[in-house]
Amino acid sequence: MSIVTDIRGTAGVILIDRVPVNAINHDIRSGILDALAELAGNPSLDRIVLAGAGKIFAAGADAGEFSKPPTDPGLPKVVAAIEASSLPVVAAIRGACLGGGLELALACRWRIADQTAQLGLPEVVLGVVPGSGGTQRLPRLVGMETALSMIPQGRSLKAAAACEAGLVDALDDDPLKAACEADLAAALARPPISAMPRPLAAPEAAAAARKTAAKKMRGQRAPAEAITLVELTADTDFETGLAKERACFLELRSTAECAALRHVFFAERAARPPASVKAADPQSLDKTVVVGGGTMGAGIAYALMQSGSAVTLVERDDEAATSARARVSGLLDAAVSRGLTSADKAAAQLTSMRFQAGYDDLQDGGLAIEAAFEDMAVKKDVLAALDSAMPDAVLATNTSYLDIDKMAGWLADPSRLVGLHFFSPAHIMKLLEIVRGKASSDMALATGFALAKRLGKLPVMVGVCDGFVGNRMLQRVREAAEHLLLDGAEFTQIDRVMTNFGYAMGLYMTQDLSGLDIAWANRKRQADNRDPNRRYSRVQDEMCAAGRLGRKSGAGWYVYEDGAKPVPNPGVAALVEAEAERHGISRRPMDDDAVLNTLLLALINEAAGLLGEGIAGRAADVDLVLVHGYGFPRFRGGPLFHAHQIGIATIHEQLKELEAGDPLVWKVAPLIEQLVADGKGFLDQDAK
Ligand code: NAI
Repeated sequence: MSIVTDIRGTAGVILIDRVPVNAINHDIRSGILDALAELAGNPSLDRIVLAGAGKIFAAGADAGEFSKPPTDPGLPKVVAAIEASSLPVVAAIRGACLGGGLELALACRWRIADQTAQLGLPEVVLGVVPGSGGTQRLPRLVGMETALSMIPQGRSLKAAAACEAGLVDALDDDPLKAACEADLAAALARPPISAMPRPLAAPEAAAAARKTAAKKMRGQRAPAEAITLVELTADTDFETGLAKERACFLELRSTAECAALRHVFFAERAARPPASVKAADPQSLDKTVVVGGGTMGAGIAYALMQSGSAVTLVERDDEAATSARARVSGLLDAAVSRGLTSADKAAAQLTSMRFQAGYDDLQDGGLAIEAAFEDMAVKKDVLAALDSAMPDAVLATNTSYLDIDKMAGWLADPSRLVGLHFFSPAHIMKLLEIVRGKASSDMALATGFALAKRLGKLPVMVGVCDGFVGNRMLQRVREAAEHLLLDGAEFTQIDRVMTNFGYAMGLYMTQDLSGLDIAWANRKRQADNRDPNRRYSRVQDEMCAAGRLGRKSGAGWYVYEDGAKPVPNPGVAALVEAEAERHGISRRPMDDDAVLNTLLLALINEAAGLLGEGIAGRAADVDLVLVHGYGFPRFRGGPLFHAHQIGIATIHEQLKELEAGDPLVWKVAPLIEQLVADGKGFLDQDAK
C-alpha cells in the first residue's frame, strides 16, 4: 500500500503509507496526485489533510531512485498540485518530515505538528540540494537567516523550534485530528508560500554559512550551491528560482560526490548482523562490567551508563579505581556543561555506578568488556579472572591489535569471547568493529550487535588479524607514507594532500594528536615477526626515543607552543635524510598527485587483501570503517568506492608498476588480480 484516502467530517485525508519511513517513491507521488484529484471533486469537503502512516510524516525521497532516470510524475509536479489544489491542504506532521517530505508540507497552506516532529531539508548530506522548491519556499516562510542555518548543513528543527521559527503553525498532540478540525481562516488569509513576499537579503548570514560549509563540509559542492539558491530568493521571482533549483538538483544527483554519499548512506543502513547472528538471543545488557577504566574503559562505561545499564568498573587496585571514577566523573561534568544532562542526574548516575578493585559480585552481569593495557600477559590475567567471576556472561576484549583467537583459548568456553573494538573517544565515535573469533558463538556476536544498537553505534563485523580492518589499513598507509618520506616527499606535503583530498587532518598531524608512543609500542611488539627484507623506516622510532611523542610532549612532527599554531618541526628533515641515506636512497621531490595516489593505492590494496582473506565481509564494510573511524572523507565514499570509480583495470596497472619497484611491500592483492580477470569491480562483489 502507498497512498490511502479517507473522509473525516469535512476533511479528505491522504495518508502516505509506506512504513517505516514513508520514503517518497514513484507510487507515492502518483498516488498523491490521484488522491488530490479524487478529493478535490468531492463537494462535501472543505479541506484536504496530508499525513503519514505510523510514527512519521515522510523521511524524504526514496534515495534508491537517485541512481535511476527521473520518472513522471516528479516531486515538483506533486508539490505544485498540492499548492494549486482547489481545496486547501493541511499537513499533519508526526516524527520525521524531512527532505521531500518537508517539500510536500511546504506546499500545504497550514502545518500542524506534534512534539515528536522533526523538520528539515537534509539533502546536502546526500550530495544534492532540495529539488522540489525547498530552497525557494523555506526562506519565504521562515526568513533568510533561519533557512541559511538549516539547508546548507542539512540541519533540522524539532517541533518547538520549528513552531517558533514559523515553519509549523500549531502544535497539537493529535495533529491529524487537529488538521481535520482546525479553523483555517488564518491560513487562508495569507497566500501560499510561493506567493509570499521575497525574504530580506542576509549577506552576513550567507557569509557565515559559507564559512561553516568550508570548514565542516570541505570540498563538497552541494552546501555552497544550496547557499546560492537560498540567497536567490531575495531578488529573484519564484518561478525563476524554482527552475534554477531543479537544474542544480538534477546536475548534482549525477556527480561522483552524490554517488559516494549515497554509497555510505546505504552501507550504513546495511550494517546489520548476518542471519545466523540475527537468529541468536543476545545476553541481557541491563547489567554490565568494564575492566580497566583508562581512556577507553571510562568512555565505554560512561556510554553504557547513559544507555541505562547498571555498570561495574573493575580496576587493578583501589587507587586505579579512584582514578577511573574521576575519569567517568569528568565525562559527566562535560555533559553537564554542554547542557546534555543536569548536575543532579549526573551526580546520581555516578553514585549508582560501582568502581571496585577485584572481581567480587559480578556473576549477574550479561557482558564484560575488558579495556586493560594492550599487553597479552595483562589480558590473560583479566580474562582468567572474568572466566571464573562471570561464568555465564559474554566476554569481550577492546584490544586494538592482539590475537583474539589466542585469548579465547584461555577460556573454559572459547565461544563466549568476541572482540568489541571501540574507537576513541568511545562515548562519541559511532564505529564499533565486532570481531568474530574462530570460536565466537552467534549468541556472543548477537550480544555485540545488541550492544551497538543500544549505544547507537555503527556495527561492522570483521575477522581476526593484526589490527582487524581499521588498524591494519592504518598501519599500511603509515608505512606507505614513511616510504614516501624516504623517497623524497615531505611530511607537511603528505598532510596537505590529505586535507586537500578532504581529510579533516593529515596523517602526521593526527599521529601527533594521538601520541606517537602507541604505534611505537606496537612496532616493538611486531619487531620479531617483521620481514627483515621489508623496507623499514626508523624515523618515528628515533623521534619516540628522543621523547618527541607528539602534542602531549610539546613536539612531534610539529612543534606545539602554548596558544600558537603548530609549526613543522625543523628537526624532522635531518632524521629523514639520514634514514634515506642509510637505505641508499637519494631523495627526489615528488608531486602532490603522485603522493596522494600512492597513499590511496596502499589503502586500496590492503583493503583488497582484507576482503580476499575474508577479514572484511563486504567492500562497503571497509569503506564504513575508514569513513567512520579514520577520517576518510565521507564524500569520497571510502577507499573501495573510490577505487571502483577509478576502475579496477587502472588500479591494477598502477599497483603493478609499484609492485615492480618493491615486490614485497606492493604485492598486488590476489582479489584484485581475480577481479581484473573477471572484469568486475569491488562493489560488484557486494552485490553477490
Ligand atoms: P589506558 O592505559 O588509558 O587504560 C588502561 C586501564 O586498564 C588503566 O586504567 C589500568 O589501570 C587498567 N588496568 C591495567 N591492568 C589491569 C588489570 N589487570 N585489571 C584491571 N584493570 C587494569 O589504555 P586505553 O587507551 O584505555 O586502552 C585500553 C585498551 O583499549 C587497549 O587494549 C587498547 O589497545 C584498546 N584501545 C585503545 C584505543 C585508544 O585510542 N586509546 C582505541 C581502541 C582500543
